[in-house]
Amino acid sequence: LHGTPKSRSLTGRRVLITSGPTREDLDPVRTLTNRSTGAMGIELARAFRDAGAQVQLVLGGDLPAPWGVETTRVRSAQEMLAACEARWGAVDGLVGAAAVADQRPEAYAAEKVKKGDGPETMVLVRTPDILATLSGTKRPGQWILGFAAESEDHLAHAAAKLQKKGLDAVLVNDIQGGRAFGAQANTLTPVTAQGPQAPIGPLPKDDLARAVVQWWGHRLEARES
Ligand code: CTP
Ligand code: CA
Repeated sequence: LHGTPKSRSLTGRRVLITSGPTREDLDPVRTLTNRSTGAMGIELARAFRDAGAQVQLVLGGDLPAPWGVETTRVRSAQEMLAACEARWGAVDGLVGAAAVADQRPEAYAAEKVKKGDGPETMVLVRTPDILATLSGTKRPGQWILGFAAESEDHLAHAAAKLQKKGLDAVLVNDIQGGRAFGAQANTLTPVTAQGPQAPIGPLPKDDLARAVVQWWGHRLEARES
């Protein structure tokens, strides 16, 4: 067993985690989604649980829910936001590991669209930003971690997201050269208001999740002392 030491700053704390892809439906049989599986968010849920936190997971995609974690399944970005909003007031922190679709089809057809009736172009509209929305109603002491995968200028993009969404840290994955998707080992660089921090990894997803939780636990302890 990999022993995960309980974290002083996380034991008994309530942590809300988003994970997985969202699915933006066009009609009862067609959907717009992305290649995320939700594996990293599930590993984070396990790692926070093992560090002593009470974890609630809002999960898109098809992976099974982890043991010991209250899981709510959602499809769309709008459903994910609603599930998070319902829980946000009662938690200490939020971890946004979901790959939320940035756009959804403008219209949903209740009946399957026939080939001859379907338009040749699809009109998309923006989905709500879950982290930005919730950070707007952040209580003192509440914290939010975001994730980002960037193919260029990863530290600058992460710093911009930190500011724009009102986050406490963005953990950024440099996916230059096709790393991250399906890779064996990943590296995450935390970017905080103090700038880029020491990279975490390269590690496989389960060890990486434990290392992230340990890093964040230490930061919370420093913040609280
Ligand atoms: N995120 C979110 N709601 C969205 C989009 C993203 O909560 N509608 C969260 C993700 O879960 C992640 C962080 O915001 O923790 C960064 O996601 P990312 O896709 O990198 O940011 P975007 O603002 O969508 O920017 P872009 O895709 O243009 O890089
Ligand atoms: Ca995005």
